[in-house]
Amino acid sequence: MKRQLHRGALLHLIADPGQCEEPGKASCYEYFPDGELLVEDGHIVATGARGTLINGRDTQTEVIEHPHSLLLPGFIDTHVHYPQLDVIASYGSQLLEWLERYVFPEEAKFGDPTYAEAVAKRFLTELLANGTTTALVYGTVHPESVDAFFTECEALNLRMIAGKVLMDRNAPDTLRDDPERAYAQSKELIERWHGRGRLAYAVTPRFACTSSPEQLEAAARLLAEYPDVYMQTHLSENHDEIRWVSELYPESLNYFDVYDSAGLARKRSVFAHCIHLQDAEWNRLAETQSSIAFCPSSNLFLGSGLFALNTARDHHIPVGLGSDVGAGTSLSCFHTMDAAYKTQQLQNVSLDPLENLYLATLGAAASLDLHDKIGNFSAGKEADFVVLDLNATPQIAERLKRTQTISETLFALITLGDDRVVGETWSFGKRCYVRR
Ligand code: GUN
Ligand code: ZN
Repeated sequence: MKRQLHRGALLHLIADPGQCEEPGKASCYEYFPDGELLVEDGHIVATGARGTLINGRDTQTEVIEHPHSLLLPGFIDTHVHYPQLDVIASYGSQLLEWLERYVFPEEAKFGDPTYAEAVAKRFLTELLANGTTTALVYGTVHPESVDAFFTECEALNLRMIAGKVLMDRNAPDTLRDDPERAYAQSKELIERWHGRGRLAYAVTPRFACTSSPEQLEAAARLLAEYPDVYMQTHLSENHDEIRWVSELYPESLNYFDVYDSAGLARKRSVFAHCIHLQDAEWNRLAETQSSIAFCPSSNLFLGSGLFALNTARDHHIPVGLGSDVGAGTSLSCFHTMDAAYKTQQLQNVSLDPLENLYLATLGAAASLDLHDKIGNFSAGKEADFVVLDLNATPQIAERLKRTQTISETLFALITLGDDRVVGETWSFGKRCYVRR
C-alpha cells in the first residue's frame, strides 16, 4: 500500500490529564489545527504541522485532505456485549431482573451460528459507524458466538478482544456450561484465535453469581496456562447482586476477593462497574494491577450507582470507558463520554474533556495493556483513527463557531456528538467506514 499523508486538524493524548496538576494540561496532549499524519503499512510514521512531514517532490505518498474535520485516535470500548445489541432500550428493571427478563432469552439465540454471524456483522458495522476501532467484547456461553465474532473481525482486520461467557449456575439450562466444558471450549477458542492477526482472547466468567467456585478455578487454570490472554468479568454493580455474592461465597472477604482468591486478578484483568467498593477492594485492585471498565450510561440506565473516578485515580488503577451495551444505551463513545461527565457532575466533579477523551483512547488502551499499539498518534502505533465532521449538523457547526480552545470544542462534541459526527473510520491504515 502507498504511503498516505492525511491532512487536517489532529488531536491526541500523550499522557493522563487526570494525573496532571498543570492548568490547561498542556503537556498531556498535542493539537495541530492544521496538521499531518503520515501512515505506512498500517502504522503511524509521524505527526506534525502541515508541510513538515514530506518534501514537496515526494510522489510516492498519497495525500488525503480532510477539510472541516478533526482527526482523533479510534475510540476504544473496554466493555461491551455484542449479543445484547438488540437488548438496548429494554424497560423498567435493575440488574438481576433485567438479565432474566431480557438478556438471557436473547443470548439463548446465539447457539445458532447463522444468527450469531448476522448480529456480529451488524454490531461491527455499528461500532465502526461510531468510530470505535477496538473493543473488549463478551460473546455468549456458546463458542459459536465467539467464532462468528472473530471471523468478522478478521475479515476487517480489526484489533479486537473477545471471549466465550462462562456460566454454570443461576442461569437457564440452555445457557449453562460446566467447569470442564467451560475450560475445554475456552482453550479451544484460545488456540484458534488468540494472537491471530490483531485478535486476542479474554477468559470471560460472566460474574460471581453465575459461576461456581469450581468454574472460577477452571478460569484461573486457563490464565496460568496462557499468561497473556485477558480476563473480563463484572464486579460490584448493584446492591442485590453484592448481597447475593456474599451468600454464594460466604468465606470471601468481599466481592473482589471472590475473583482475587481464585487467581483471576492481575494485569490484563478488566473488571466492569466497580461502583460500591470497600477500601480493601480498591487496594487489592491496585495491588493486583487490575483494570476497571467505567460504564456510565449503563450505570445510569440500570440505576446501579455512580462510579468514583477520583478514587480510582487516587489508587492509580487504569480505567477505560465502556458502553456496556445492552445495559448501556449507545455504542457511541460520545454518548459514553457525555454520561461519564454527568455521573461525575452528580458527585461534584467536573470531568475535564481531555481527560474524558483519554478514558476513551490512550487511557482505555493502557487499561487493556495495548498502549504500545493503539490509543494515540505516536510513531509506530497502528493507524486506527476517526475523521470527525465538524459540520455534521447545522447546530454543531454553529456551536463550534463559538468555541475558542480545543478543550471547548472537544467538550461541545462530547455533549452534542453521536454517529452523525463520524465522517470516516480508518483501521490499520485502511478506510473501513464512510458516512453516506
Ligand atoms: N452482570 C452480569 N452480567 C451482566 C450483563 O450482561 N450486563 C451487566 N450490565 N451486568 C452484568
Ligand atoms: Zn456488562
